[in-house]
Order: sequence, then structure tokens, then C-alpha cells
Amino acid sequence: MNTWTHRHILDLSSFSLEDFSAVLELANRFKALPSSGARKLPALQGKLVATLFFEPSTRTKSSFELAARSLSADVQSFSANTSSLSKGETALDTAMTYVAMGADILVVRHKSSTVPLQIANYLDKIGKQTAVLNGGDGLHSHPSQGLLDLFTLAEYFNPSNPNLDSLRDKKIVIVGDILHSRVARSNLWALTACGANIVLCGPTSLLPENFSEFVNSPPPGQQEDPISNRGKVKIIRSLKEALNGADAIMTLRLQKERMQQNLLSSLETYNEEYGLSHQSIKWCKKSVPVLHPGPVNRGVEMSGDLIEDRSICLIEEQVRNGIPIRMALLYLMSAIEI
Ligand code: CP
Repeated sequence: MNTWTHRHILDLSSFSLEDFSAVLELANRFKALPSSGARKLPALQGKLVATLFFEPSTRTKSSFELAARSLSADVQSFSANTSSLSKGETALDTAMTYVAMGADILVVRHKSSTVPLQIANYLDKIGKQTAVLNGGDGLHSHPSQGLLDLFTLAEYFNPSNPNLDSLRDKKIVIVGDILHSRVARSNLWALTACGANIVLCGPTSLLPENFSEFVNSPPPGQQEDPISNRGKVKIIRSLKEALNGADAIMTLRLQKERMQQNLLSSLETYNEEYGLSHQSIKWCKKSVPVLHPGPVNRGVEMSGDLIEDRSICLIEEQVRNGIPIRMALLYLMSAIEI
């Protein structure tokens, strides 16, 4: 188990198959623990986890805090609205304030893609042991979401043994606002690593053609891809055509806060072309699960009926799986001493 080498977790493009396996195996074990008080494990006793969310969050922040407490860590939560950011303090100075208070792990969410990396680089430069876990940065990456989606799908396909092989050769359709989605980017790295083939579906304004090349070369700063044989990525614009033969569908929130200009004629038109409903998912020609990272724009990305249909919609399972996945990440990060 102890082959973990990631001091910081900033994205999933640098994860090997062993890394993905280690996270899934641990998450599976943590999920099997009783959900009563006996669930608390001593693994992070004496550690301080600070959740620095400079952007809003419900799921990620709460589940990181629950995960940290489940491992007996102390948790310090930061509220951007009532912080000294309003007096001009920078994100880096804010982070260093929590480091000075003894934080061992910083979970950082920020609207700018580079902030968690900048904090991690600075900590490394000055020789601090504090680790950074990216809780979602701009359009770049949301690694814990990508991992909980991977776990949820692996569990769906193989409930008794949710491992990486469960995803091999599966056709996963990702629908919607790919351009602004760090979740889509993290899922592309994670799912193709496990040999799943991805179909991206959406209008050109939210899904530029070059996304079909997304996993073809390692991102800047990385010499080579740790995965030798990734699944394929292709773009299909028509939802009906994209869903034909799909094994699972993931739909994404329209990220209006990140759109530079109005990229859609109307939400009604978007819903007609790309919204998921009981009617449209029949195009898969078999029963398939539907995932959404949340929060959902009801009646835009998915119909209310489909969201309520627990036999198809895995949103609640994704939220539940967020806790054991984040426990696994905190556990693995705190186990390495450099
Ligand atoms: N999926 C996700 O990141 O949700 P939150 O913004 O609520 O954390």
C-alpha cells in the first residue's frame, strides 16, 4: 500500500494506476465501516486540516471536514466572506496564516486555476511540510470529485469489488458545459486511465473541438503520461447519437459564473437539446446510471423526475462516496513523510 508519492494532490493527470487503485481500495474499506460513532479512526490524531474555500461549496467542504473528523483530525474551517480577504489579504498570505497556526493539510478551493499550485510551490520552496489538496481550482481540476465519480461508477458496475477493471471498455457519456468544468477535466484523466472510452456531448460554445485531444499529451510541467494505454475520447454533438450504447451518463452544471459572455441562446433551448429526462435516456437502449456532481440546475441539465429517480440517478451515492474518498486522500497524504 505504501507506494504513495504525492505530497500534494493538485490534479489527476499525474496519477498512476497504482495511485487510483490505492484510493479506491481505501475508500471501499472506509465505506464499509459502521456509520455510528465507532467509525472514528485514530489515523490523523494530532493533525490539523484547514479547509480554505475561497469559492462557495456545500458538498466538497463539508465532506472534507467530515472525512477529516472521521480520521480524528482537528479541523479549522475558513469563511471567505468574513475573513481578512476583504482587507486585501492574498490567498497565499491567508494560507500561510493557517500554516503558522499548525495546519498539516490545506484543502484549497479558488476561482483561479493556479492558486493551489502556487501555495504548494511556495510551501516546498520554504521547506514547510504542510500539504495542499486541491478542492477545485478554476477550470483546471477537482481531483476529489473525479475520484468519487470513479468510485461511484466502479461500484455501480461491480458492487462487490469496485476496482479499476470495472471501468475498462465502458462507454461513458459526459454531457454539457465541458469548457468551464474542472469536474469534466478530472474525470477525463481518471476514467481514461482505467480504460473507459469517453464521449463528450454539448454545443460548440461549451465544448470546443480540441477537447477530443485533451488526454493525448501530458499537461504543462509533466514529462510523460503515467498511463500507457488510455481510453479514447471523442465528441458527438447530437445527444441522441451520443447516448446510443452508453453504459453511463454524467451531466454537468452550466457554470454561468465562469461564462465570459452569453454562450447559449436560452436555457430552454439548451434543455431541449441536452437536458436529460426519462425520455432522452431511452436513447441509450439499456438501463444506465446518471451522475451529476451537483449542484444541479433543476429542469436545465436534468428533469426533476430524473433527479428523484433513485434507481437511475446516482447523485446521492456520489455525495455519500465523497466522504470515504476524501478519507482515503487525507489518509494517504498524511502517511507520507518527506
Ligand atoms: N461538486 C461540488 O464541487 O460541489 P460543491 O460546489 O457543493 O462543493
